[in-house]
Amino acid sequence: MPEVASRSHIQKIQPIVHGALQKAGITLDEIDCIAVTNGPGLPGSLLVGLCFAKSLAFARKIPIVGVNHIHAHALSPAIENNIPFPYLCLTASGGHTSLSIVYSMLEQRTIANTRDDAAGEAFDKVAKLLNLGYPGGPIIEQLAREQQFKDFFAYPRAKHKELFFSFSGLKTAVLYHLMQEGWYDRTQKKFTQEENHPLKAMIASSFLASVSDIMVSRITIALQQHPEIQAIAFAGGVACNQFIKTNIEQCARQHNRPFFAPRPSYCTDNAAMVAFAGYQKAKTCQFDDQTLDLLRWQNI
Ligand code: KG4
Ligand code: ZN
Repeated sequence: MPEVASRSHIQKIQPIVHGALQKAGITLDEIDCIAVTNGPGLPGSLLVGLCFAKSLAFARKIPIVGVNHIHAHALSPAIENNIPFPYLCLTASGGHTSLSIVYSMLEQRTIANTRDDAAGEAFDKVAKLLNLGYPGGPIIEQLAREQQFKDFFAYPRAKHKELFFSFSGLKTAVLYHLMQEGWYDRTQKKFTQEENHPLKAMIASSFLASVSDIMVSRITIALQQHPEIQAIAFAGGVACNQFIKTNIEQCARQHNRPFFAPRPSYCTDNAAMVAFAGYQKAKTCQFDDQTLDLLRWQNI
C-alpha cells in the first residue's frame, strides 16, 4: 500500500539516519556528500528520501548525488569483490527483475526487464496462495529444501529465445493447479489444506525449480548474445536464494566465467549499495543539485 509505505518512511527516516551515524561512530560534520535513490520505485516513498536528503545537503552545504536504484543493485556485487568488466548482473527483487551489462562503475545498460511480475513478487504471491506469510522468498526456499528442490509439477518455463522475463504465467499456473486439485478456494482466497500439509513443500519446490530454470536460461541467452561479458553477478533480494545462486554459479562455470553475489545484507534493499554507487559518481564529480527530482520513466 503506497500511502502506508510513504507515511512509514516519514516516521522512520530521521531515526534511521541518526542510528546509522551512531552505529558508524561519526557525526554529520564528517559526511562529505549525500547519495540518495531517486528511482525507480514507489514515488511517495522515494520523495520522502529525496526531500530529506536535499534538505540535509542544503543545511550542511554539502553536495548531493542521485542514484538509480537498479544501478545500485547491479553494483552491489562489486562492493566486496574485484569483478572484471563488463559483467552481466541479474537483479531480482520484489519490485524489479532485470539483466544489465555493467561496463564500469559508472556505466551500465539494461538489456532485459520483466514484462509483468518481478521474481520476488512472484515468490511473495505464491507464498500468499499457500498461506505462508511475507516475505515469501525465504519461506519458499526453506520449504523447497525439505523436498530437495525436486520438480514435481513441471510448471511452465517460457522457453522462448528472447531475453525478457515474465513470471505472471508461472504464478497463474500454480493458482490453476491448486484450484484444479481443490486445494484452493478462490472465493475465500484460501489454501484449503492443513497448515503443514506436504503439498506446500512440493509446490514450493517445483515453483523454485521453475524460477531458477528461467533465470539460468536468460543468462545463457545473454551470454550467447554478448560474448564480451567477462563475469556473471546476481543481486537483489532474490539473490539471497542459495538454490538459485548455486544454479547460476554452475551456469557461469559451464561458460568459463567467474560468478559473484553480494553477501545477503547487500542483496536485499540497503543503503550501503546506494552510498557505494553514489561514491563512484562523487569521485568523478558527477554531483547533482537542489533541482534533483525523481527519475522519469524514460531515464530508467
Ligand atoms: O531487494 P529487496 O529487499 O526489495 C525490493 O527492492 O523489492 O527484495 C525483496 C524480495 C521479496 O520479494 C522477497 O520475497 C525476496 O526478495 N527474497 C527472496 C529470498 N529472500 C528474499 N526470494 C527468494 N529466495 C530468498 N531466499
Ligand atoms: Zn531493490
